Amino acid sequence: MSEALYDLVIIGGGPGGYVAAIRAAQLGLKTACVEGRGTLGGTCLNVGCMPSKALLNSSEKFVDAQKHFAEHGIKGSVELDLETMLGRKDKVVEDLTKGVEFLLKKNKVDYVKGWGSIPKVGEVLVKGDDGEQTLKTKDILIATGSESTPLPGIETDEEQIVTSTGALSLKKVPEHMVVIGAGVIGLELGSVWSRLGAQVTVVEFLDKILPGIDEETGKLAKRVLGKQGLKFKLGMKVTAADKVDGKVKLTMESVKKGKVEELEVDTVLVSIGRRAYTSGLGLEELGVAMERGVIQVDGNFKTSVDGIYAIGDCVPGPMLAHKAEEDGVACVETLAGQKGHVNYELVPGVVYTHPEIATVGKSEEALKEAGVAYNVGKFPFSANSRARAMGESDGQVKILSDATSDKVLGVHIIGPAAGELLSEAVAVMEFGGSAEDIARTCHSHPGLSEAVKEAALAVDKRAIHM
Ligand code: FAD
Ligand code: NAI
Repeated sequence: MSEALYDLVIIGGGPGGYVAAIRAAQLGLKTACVEGRGTLGGTCLNVGCMPSKALLNSSEKFVDAQKHFAEHGIKGSVELDLETMLGRKDKVVEDLTKGVEFLLKKNKVDYVKGWGSIPKVGEVLVKGDDGEQTLKTKDILIATGSESTPLPGIETDEEQIVTSTGALSLKKVPEHMVVIGAGVIGLELGSVWSRLGAQVTVVEFLDKILPGIDEETGKLAKRVLGKQGLKFKLGMKVTAADKVDGKVKLTMESVKKGKVEELEVDTVLVSIGRRAYTSGLGLEELGVAMERGVIQVDGNFKTSVDGIYAIGDCVPGPMLAHKAEEDGVACVETLAGQKGHVNYELVPGVVYTHPEIATVGKSEEALKEAGVAYNVGKFPFSANSRARAMGESDGQVKILSDATSDKVLGVHIIGPAAGELLSEAVAVMEFGGSAEDIARTCHSHPGLSEAVKEAALAVDKRAIHM
């Protein structure tokens, strides 16, 4: 058993933990990052953001080659080599996780392999393959992330009945896949397997997809994804999934009328949300306040116990990698005597379907509910020359601004590269900018970003190309 004295020991090497570790080291704190899964990068790099984006990209290329190249005058048939596609995804993950290991080394952060727990304030006990060690430290930062929320009565095996992790590595394309939950994971991974040839049915408890998103944008998304072949069963709940003769028999029930339906499918993806992963840390014994496993923190990410902090998916707020990173930076900057801050009003959200769906700020429904008077400017990608040249004219940009001050309150984009386009809106909103500020900014031509400018012009009813 060895001992070391650190300023900060971080438990969890995901985007929250490893980014916090690098920033802490930059600020001169002697830092260790404890990670149990064997590779750094957390859910995001190993079984989340990055493998899903690799497969989204590969499957989009497959659809392009199969269905869209011909209209560009490029002929020839293509076939799917799933093993190579999955292998490429694994290589992307391997390279990225190794990259994070290199970054920790470069910043002189000690990467400690093993599962951490907190026997008492100021100590982290790490159980690794090579035995146990206790790290003595001034402060502890918990960044242990989240896991899939299970659906009671439905047991996942990561082969036939899978969480997102299994859905990233299916050995063959299912004939029929049912996705339970029309949230971000359901739509992204449902899209992947639908593009590769599966019939995909998305079963959602509510009567809409992507709950919480600006409703018009959600409806447009449903229409576009429906055109691509995704089938939606809304207002339905799955009550049982039984494995019978190599298939899964699903029983579901309509929420309003209780009408029962059965479906026999090859694969079921359970994607009904994620929950904080905080078990095994010893938090109950230490008296760290939690609500349903979610660690409660103050404005400086301090838990109810002095010397213990928490960030990312295991604390309240959106479960997004960039939010976890912002939390991590703000937390350690505060620990180092600076003034860390995160603006939770402006955390962007992007669904990486095709087209992408990207939103920031308030939805129209939220503004109505809050009684805020607003103006709306919309511009369709069908009227954007670059989108037309690309053959990507589905979707629109929608800007909501305050009726009196013109301050931008929300931006909702569905369309090509929506996630990248959104960054302009986020920056303008961070500076408290107006729709007029965007409208008066020179945007290069021909560019997709001209649709953002035109939507800003449309707020004042003076769009040019519509
Ligand atoms: P995590 O990334 O979950 O990292 C926590 C780490 O802590 C894990 O590696 C875990 O092994 C480790 N750990 C836990 N307990 C211990 C312990 N006791 N000792 C040592 N180590 C421990 N977000 C986006 O912003 N964009 C996306 O495109 C996106 N796509 C996603 C796709 C999928 C399929 C999934 C599942 C998630 C996706 N997310 C996405 C969400 C994103 O992955 C999370 O929000 C993000 O990873 C949270 O970061 P974190 O550092 O808080 O936790
Ligand atoms: P989610 O919260 O996005 O969606 C879950 C959906 O399941 C909701 O629509 C909900 O109404 C529905 N649901 C809940 N219980 C149900 C039931 N019993 N039957 C049918 N439907 C039910 O959760 P998801 O998709 O699992 O993703 C988890 C988190 O991962 C997201 O909240 C997001 O933060 C993160 N993520 C982010 C991505 C991105 O930023 N691009 C990509 C993937 C995940």
